[in-house]
Amino acid sequence: MKEIKDVGVCGCGLMGSGIAACAAAAGFPTVVCEVAPMALEQGRERVTRSLEKMKQPEALRRISFMLEFDALRDCDLVVEAVVENMEAKRKLFADLDVILPQHSLLASNTSSLGITEMAASTRRPDRFIGMHFFNPVPVMKLVELSRGLKTSEETLAAARAFVARIGKTAILAPDAPGFIVNRLLVPYLIEAIRVYEQGLASKEDIDAGMKLGCAHPMGPLELLDYVGLDTTLHIAEIFFEAFGEARYAPPTLLRKMVAAGKLGRKSGEGFYRY
Ligand SMILES: NC(=O)c1ccc[n+]([C@@H]2O[C@H](COP(=O)([O-])OP(=O)(O)OC[C@H]3O[C@@H](n4cnc5c(N)ncnc54)[C@H](O)[C@@H]3O)[C@@H](O)[C@H]2O)c1
Repeated sequence: MKEIKDVGVCGCGLMGSGIAACAAAAGFPTVVCEVAPMALEQGRERVTRSLEKMKQPEALRRISFMLEFDALRDCDLVVEAVVENMEAKRKLFADLDVILPQHSLLASNTSSLGITEMAASTRRPDRFIGMHFFNPVPVMKLVELSRGLKTSEETLAAARAFVARIGKTAILAPDAPGFIVNRLLVPYLIEAIRVYEQGLASKEDIDAGMKLGCAHPMGPLELLDYVGLDTTLHIAEIFFEAFGEARYAPPTLLRKMVAAGKLGRKSGEGFYRY
């Protein structure tokens, strides 16, 4: 397996910008690709802000911002962070498979889609892996790696080495909805909404309980506002369909809040006002 030297990132939104900043800050020459000039410009601004916060503004020099996917052709690893849609991701990976040299690795930052199914859109399913970062990427230390059915040991080892080089810790998660962290987190968040919805406790007491009783930095309702209620609803729906278990069923209050536009911090109001 060739050592990873050049890194590509597809999609420079919330997650892609953080991944690109971390790769460049760790010394990797990094190519960022976006679909439209406006998205690319916004992506560049996000990366610049991240690197300033990381006190590594000079790392911006290592990043090229491009609109042509051909620019990725020298990358040893390309991390995909585009919209959470299987068809869009499969199309992108099929295109990348043609452009990239044979040794290059492909990774997806998907939070909910199947790694094996995505890998099957390429002729290199052995060199394909799930690489799930957490928001905000420059701050959060965890990366969940997930193997598809055909992912090789070498690919896993190279992905682990890359994650370590960018100063993060990798855990090996199953190729199943929610990997490890969201599989545990989502039922917990849903249960907190149910306790509140049923009038069993105030939102302040639910949050204080988990902060002071379990040393969590945020209570579950605060965390829901931070993650976004629409995002949580979307994940709960995927889990409920995949596992068919009542504990994943989205609570009525969650559906109503999303319908009313109370999405959390991003809309100015969720369980709390901002
Ligand atoms: N938001 C989170 O907390 C979070 C956490 C972990 C993983 N993820 C996953 O990361 C991925 C990206 O999420 P995000 O929150 O950064 O989304 P986002 O909407 O902020 O960014 C997506 C970016 O991808 C670009 N894009 C779309 N199609 C493209 C293509 N074909 N080529 C290049 N760029 C393209 C869009 O222009 C946009 O800038 C999703 O798969 C999501 O599930 C998100």
